[in-house]
Amino acid sequence: MQKVSSPRLIVALDTADPAKLDLLLAQLDPQLCRVKVGKELFTALGPSVIDAVHAQGFELFLDLKYHDIPNTVAAACRVAADAGVWMLNVHALGGKAMLAAARESIQQSMHSPLLIGVTLLTSMGESELIELGITLSPTELVQHLARLSHQAGLDGVVCSAQEARLIKNELGTDFVLVTPGIRLPSDASHDQQRIVSPQQAMENGADFLVVGRPITQADSPADKLREFARLLSS
Ligand code: C5P
Repeated sequence: MQKVSSPRLIVALDTADPAKLDLLLAQLDPQLCRVKVGKELFTALGPSVIDAVHAQGFELFLDLKYHDIPNTVAAACRVAADAGVWMLNVHALGGKAMLAAARESIQQSMHSPLLIGVTLLTSMGESELIELGITLSPTELVQHLARLSHQAGLDGVVCSAQEARLIKNELGTDFVLVTPGIRLPSDASHDQQRIVSPQQAMENGADFLVVGRPITQADSPADKLREFARLLSS
């Protein structure tokens, strides 16, 4: 199976409001983007949101960042895979046995979603790591967890576009990189600390770009999506 396919843009549907979700899905175009369902939307609407998104023709990244004992994570991943999601993720900090169990469980599903590891949340910096008793720098830890994900057979990792080049160089072009924190120069950065333009992210080796508020909070999400898509195709 080809791991990297168009569209490369993933729109984060970060809302708990079913009416807002319907409006967004009506304005987005499955030819131009995939969509991401995270903890807020999934907790608000439950698993029916997966069917709602599929019914509109979108492929779905289920961003629930599973992190638990291997058996529990493996079972949850299998349920998500059987629901037909296109991509799902697990915390690499859950350890190699957990990552390998997740890999093995989705292999038994008739669907084969991409399985992605979350390395270090971008909200965590040097001082937060020290607080946790971790002495590696954030970059060293991201590299270490990317390596661990690769060894456990995951398809790729979520990382910042600024770390993408380093990881691609070490782990190869087949290792899929999913990068949030994407902004056009005219966009507000919101709470993202390290923002990168879509073109720069692709040049750094990102395979899929996650964009939330610049599209979902635009006056016209449809126009803004087209603007992002144009930049990526040029
Ligand atoms: O609105 P914005 O474009 O900042 O949304 C980015 C999306 O990517 C959000 O859903 C956020 O939870 C997610 N994300 C992130 N940074 C990470 C991992 C995920 O911004 N390290």
